[in-house]
Amino acid sequence: MSAQQDNMDAIISLAKRRGFIFQGSEIYGGLAGTWDYGPLGVMLKNNITNAWWRLFVDERTDMYGIDAAILMNPRAWVASGHVAGFSDPLVEDLKTKKRYRADHLLEEKGVDVKGMKVADMDAAIKEHKLLSPEGNPLGEVRQFNMMLQTQLGAIADASAITYLRPETAGGMFVNYKNVIDAFHPKLPFGLAQMGKAFRNEIAPRDFIFRVRELEQMEVEYFVEPTDWERAFEEWRKKMWEFIEAIGLPRGMVHELEVAKEDLAHYSKRTIDFEFDFPFGRKELYGLAYRTDFDLSAHARESGVDLSYFDEETKKRFVPHVIEPSLGIGRSLLAVLSSAYSEDDMGGEKRIVLRLKPSVAPIRCAVSPLLKNKPELVAKAKEVFALLKKEFGRVMYDDNGNIGKRYRRQDEIGTPHCIVIDFDSLGENPELLDTVTVRDRDTGEQERVHINELTAYLHARD
Ligand code: GAP
Repeated sequence: MSAQQDNMDAIISLAKRRGFIFQGSEIYGGLAGTWDYGPLGVMLKNNITNAWWRLFVDERTDMYGIDAAILMNPRAWVASGHVAGFSDPLVEDLKTKKRYRADHLLEEKGVDVKGMKVADMDAAIKEHKLLSPEGNPLGEVRQFNMMLQTQLGAIADASAITYLRPETAGGMFVNYKNVIDAFHPKLPFGLAQMGKAFRNEIAPRDFIFRVRELEQMEVEYFVEPTDWERAFEEWRKKMWEFIEAIGLPRGMVHELEVAKEDLAHYSKRTIDFEFDFPFGRKELYGLAYRTDFDLSAHARESGVDLSYFDEETKKRFVPHVIEPSLGIGRSLLAVLSSAYSEDDMGGEKRIVLRLKPSVAPIRCAVSPLLKNKPELVAKAKEVFALLKKEFGRVMYDDNGNIGKRYRRQDEIGTPHCIVIDFDSLGENPELLDTVTVRDRDTGEQERVHINELTAYLHARD
C-alpha cells in the first residue's frame, strides 16, 4: 500500500474515531456515496461555510444570498440541459452486470481521456483489451444520466416525476428575476447559495471526495456581456482568498485551464482549481463563464422575459454569468488531508491536525490540573464559562492526565490548551489568576492572566 493511501486510511480512521465523519447508515452496512457528519465535522464544516459566506457575500455590497428549494419544477432541468446531457460514460461488466466509469478504468490504465467522446473511449477499451476490475469482459460504453429522479404526490405517472437538484445553481437562475424585482440591483450583481445537491455517481469513492449527496457553495454573478473577462479575474482572485482563509497551502492548489472539448455544455471557459489529495491531483473547485446560456434557456422554456434593462444606456439585454462553484465536502477533505501529520513531541509519537485556528472545530480546551481538587475545578469552570461565552467552540476536558489531554486535543486540531494549576489559585502569589496556555504546534506554554485570555486567543486566530 502506498504512503499516500496509508495517509488517507489514517484520515478516515481519525474522522470516525474522533467524531468528524461517519459512514452513512453505518449500522445497516452503509449506503454507498453517503456520509454523516458528527459533532466535530459539523463544527469544521460551519467554520468553512461561514468563511465562504463572509468573503463571498457579507464583505461585498453586490451580493444577495438565497436559499431555494431542492425540488424544482422539472422543466427547469430540461431548460438547463441536465435532463438531456448531464451524464457520465458507463461500461458494464458483462458477467456480473456491475457498472463502471469508462473514463476511470482508462485513466487507471494510464490512458489520457481528456477530450475523449464515448466512441473514443469504446475504441480505447477495445484497443487496450481492458477487462472489468473482476477480470471479466466489458460491454459497450454508454452515456448514463446522473440526475436522481423522484416522484411527487400520490399518482405515479410521468407527470409526477421530478429531480433532486444536481447543482445549487438552478435555484439561483430561477430566482434572478425575483431579486431584481425586489431589490432593483444594478449590474454587476450576484446571487449566492449553499446547500445540498444530488448526483447518481456510478463510482462514489475516495471518502467524501465523490459522493451522491453533496453540498456546494455557489455564486451566479450577472454581468454585462463585455464585462465577463474582468469579472472572471475578480472571482478567480476571490477563490484564492478563500483558499487562504481556510488554511490550504497555496502550493497544493493548481489552476487548470479546461480544454475546449472538455467544457460542460453551458461553459465557454472554465478553470478547475485542483488539489493534491492523498489519492492524487483532483478537482477541488471550478470557475466557469456560463455566458447567457442559462437565463436565455429559462426564458425560452418558461416564456418569462429574463432580460435586464439598463436605465442609463436604455439598452435591454440578457446578462452573462460568472460562476465560482465550490464543493463543501471537498473543502473539508482538502483541509483535513493538508492538516494531518504525525510527528514526535517530547519523545512521544503523536497525531496532530495543524488546522488554522479560525477553522479548527474547537478553538481551545480548558482543564483543571487535577480533577479531584474542587478549588482547581471551580476556577477551571469559571475560565471555561468565560471562554465559552466568547468563542462558543470551547471544550472542557478533565479526562486522564494532562499529557493524554494534550494528545487528544492535538488529534482534533485544537490550537490552544488552557490549564488551571495551583499557581492560578495563588500558591505563588505573583501568578494568582494566571493560567498556562499551550500551543498545539510548538508544545510551548505561556502564562497568561485570565483577564487577558480572550485578547491573547483572538490575536492568534
Ligand atoms: N454549478 C456548477 C457545477 O456544479 P461541477 O464541476 O459539476 O459544477 C462543482 O461541481 C463543484 O462541486 C466541484 O468542483 C466539487 O467541488 C463539487 N462536486 C461536484 N460533484 C461532486 C461529488 N460527486 N461529490 C463531491 N463534490 C462534488
